[in-house]
Amino acid sequence: MPRVDARRVAAVPGPRAARPGDAPLLEAVGLRREFGRGAGRVAAVDGVSLTVHAGEALGIVGESGSGKTTLGRMLVRLLDPTAGRLRYGGTEIGSLSEKALRPVRRELQMVFQDPVASLNPRRSVGESVADPLRAAGETDESRIRDRVRELLERAGLEADRYERYPHEFSGGQRQRVGIARALAAGPRLIVCDDPVSALDVTTQAQVLGLLAELRRELGIGLVFIAHDLAVVRQVSDRVAVMRRGRIVEEGLVDEVYGAPRHPYTRQLLAAVPALDPAQAARRRATRKELAAA
Ligand SMILES: Nc1ncnc2c1ncn2[C@@H]1O[C@H](COP(=O)(O)OP(=O)(O)OP(=O)(O)O)[C@@H](O)[C@H]1O
Ligand SMILES: [Mg+2]
Repeated sequence: MPRVDARRVAAVPGPRAARPGDAPLLEAVGLRREFGRGAGRVAAVDGVSLTVHAGEALGIVGESGSGKTTLGRMLVRLLDPTAGRLRYGGTEIGSLSEKALRPVRRELQMVFQDPVASLNPRRSVGESVADPLRAAGETDESRIRDRVRELLERAGLEADRYERYPHEFSGGQRQRVGIARALAAGPRLIVCDDPVSALDVTTQAQVLGLLAELRRELGIGLVFIAHDLAVVRQVSDRVAVMRRGRIVEEGLVDEVYGAPRHPYTRQLLAAVPALDPAQAARRRATRKELAAA
């Protein structure tokens, strides 16, 4: 089979990048999600409003249990909001029926923290990546195969990995498979839920570089959830700080990191220098090198 032309792969059709004044791709207003019943009822997400534009990356940080994953899952409609509005491309999708949601589902994708758990160990990675293509109605086996090979290459894997099984891949490669699978659906927005926290620093930098490319080249909007404040800063244009289900502060990354207004943000940032400074410097240098490569 001939090798796929790299330029053709890079030109996978995608939406153009956002221009100032464009309507947001996704807009949440007062989004709320409760769990439990009666006295045990808690609001995991409590009145969150945010916007994401095409080609933009919104970072979400906050301590464990602050509601980041719950919010992320609602944004792609894997979870129903208890209240609030969710508009995608100008259409209210927060309360759409499963059937009406179908075309939207493809365009809103999620990449999970644990690439092992999100891939079926008994199926070749090529078959996993092909799922969204088949779900979209593609039945021509050779077209499916070609497209999967393109997607694997686009995610930085060798196209001939099609027949391999997840256990044959490293953590970083599995996360690339997860990204290829998300891309197969033709997304306009990807929610990444702590996608690199299980990876070593070098692999982290490579996967983050890939996400940045997808944003730039395909105009995909990203919601990037992470524990690591440095990672969020590197990836995001804006950042929202969550605490107990609410956004306590939101702004451009340089503003929020440079001059945090909310005491909780200051507290989060103050916890960072507790890391070994030499290690932090090495991490930065590695990321820079890889970003430049
Ligand atoms: N399916 C569920 N049923 C009941 N409670 C839930 C459910 N999912 C989440 N919660 C609760 O909602 C709150 C927010 O959880 P969530 O997983 O969104 O936090 P998070 O910010 O993603 O945390 P982490 O950083 O550890 O991933 C927690 O108190 C959690 O226990
Ligand atoms: Mg989470």
